[in-house]
Amino acid sequence: MYRSKIKDILAKQTFDYETSVAGWVRTFRNNRFIALNDGSCLSNIQIVVDYENMDEALLKKINTGAAIHAKGQIIESQGRGQTHEMVCTELQVLGESDPEKYPLQPKRHSMEFLREIAHLRFRTNTFASVFRIRSNAAFAIHKFFAEKGFVYLHSPIITGSDAEGAGEMFHVTTMDLKAPALNEDGEIDYSQDFFNSETNLTVSGQLEAELGALALSEVYTFGPTFRAENSNTTRHLAEFWMIEPEVAFCDLDGDMDLAEEMLKYVIQYVMDHNQEDLAFLENRLVEEEKHKPQNERSPMLLREKLAFCIENDFERLTYTEAIRILKNSKPNKKKKFQYLIEEWGADLQSEHERYLVEKHFKKPVILTDYPKDIKAFYMRLNDDGKTVRAMDILFPGIGEIVGGSQREERLELLEKRMDEMDIPKEEMSWYLDTRRFGTCEHAGFGLGFGRLVQFITGMGNIRDVIPFPRTPGNAKF
Ligand code: 4AD
Ligand code: MG
Repeated sequence: MYRSKIKDILAKQTFDYETSVAGWVRTFRNNRFIALNDGSCLSNIQIVVDYENMDEALLKKINTGAAIHAKGQIIESQGRGQTHEMVCTELQVLGESDPEKYPLQPKRHSMEFLREIAHLRFRTNTFASVFRIRSNAAFAIHKFFAEKGFVYLHSPIITGSDAEGAGEMFHVTTMDLKAPALNEDGEIDYSQDFFNSETNLTVSGQLEAELGALALSEVYTFGPTFRAENSNTTRHLAEFWMIEPEVAFCDLDGDMDLAEEMLKYVIQYVMDHNQEDLAFLENRLVEEEKHKPQNERSPMLLREKLAFCIENDFERLTYTEAIRILKNSKPNKKKKFQYLIEEWGADLQSEHERYLVEKHFKKPVILTDYPKDIKAFYMRLNDDGKTVRAMDILFPGIGEIVGGSQREERLELLEKRMDEMDIPKEEMSWYLDTRRFGTCEHAGFGLGFGRLVQFITGMGNIRDVIPFPRTPGNAKF
């Protein structure tokens, strides 16, 4: 079907030519003005119909939600609120929409309600903007790494390894769960399962990325990862997309530089390419926050916040320094934190991370050198014997957005750590081979893509920046 995209029509100050458009009716006013949207941009195009000379039955079918194809003349609009309009000469209703039954009325709906009808929420301004931005941010990630010469590596989705050693995994099996094969001890016999071994959905592509980096030097993954943690928060999904670069001949400083540069690049890309969407989302956030008390509102407008993030260096400090700040902080002294910081070694909760970022430094923060006991086995041990070369990047309103580290490249120390943490070395022999043959300094990180999109769009809940969120109790659509 021949059609112009609404975005292209509106982008040009060209008038008095004939074309056609297709899209979904947002509103139809006074039997005369159709606001049509085709998803190519936030703006609708106004289509003016000559209702006096139009078939009554056809007119009745122009309802909110209907798909139409319209042909006509693009003219400079005389009315207010739009620059262009189409004077319609031919109109076809492609798909009707019963106004009594269509769930999306031209009014404000709650995010909760829209989540229930996630199959239709793409048709709202908010979600269309969010998903245009999500798409551009993903493209920017690939562009960033391609320009740097990284190899895009597809790590497996089904795997026999548990990268984080956290054990919160979804099993993958073709066995009949009502009558699984059992061994002599009455345990499930995975040797009779599809892969002849126990398998799960990946929690991270890092270990495989490390294998790639120790040959290709610089690689990154970008794919879905899965965690069966029962976290019902605005920052957690059971299925989320993660970007995991891994770089050989690179230490933690280089790793932090890469992460900071990448985040700024992606934010800048979206600011350059989604101006209309960002302006809309900025306004949406202001409206939403009007219902909140002053001290819970964002201190900056959305685009100010993004610009601020690009223009300023992230604050870098060690975990030990952060603990000192937190211990002496007002909320700790006044026992306002749910988890009080008593001593070195405490795991940081999101309330602590947010205090550091939002109250103390008021900018993105990179924390480094965490106690080894609260981090994964593969992180490089520091000379003090108790901290590891880890880094977490914390963002305002989000908390942890990136987690990474320099990897333990020394075989003996890695094996020792695996023993201490009960990680089976035999099963991970393939991983240890990189340390046996041509090991070298290397580092990487994982960026939670949903959290980055949340930051950029100002959406309060990670469920509203992925088309179909998977969370405890919900895998609908
Ligand atoms: O800190 P995490 O668990 O680190 C790793 O998986 C490492 N293997 C990364 C690496 O070094 N290659 O996860 C990385 C990031 C977090 O900082 C967070 O942004 C995001 O992934 N993330 C989640 N996002 C949404 N829902 C969840 N359940 C998430 N868990 C982690
Ligand atoms: Mg982490």
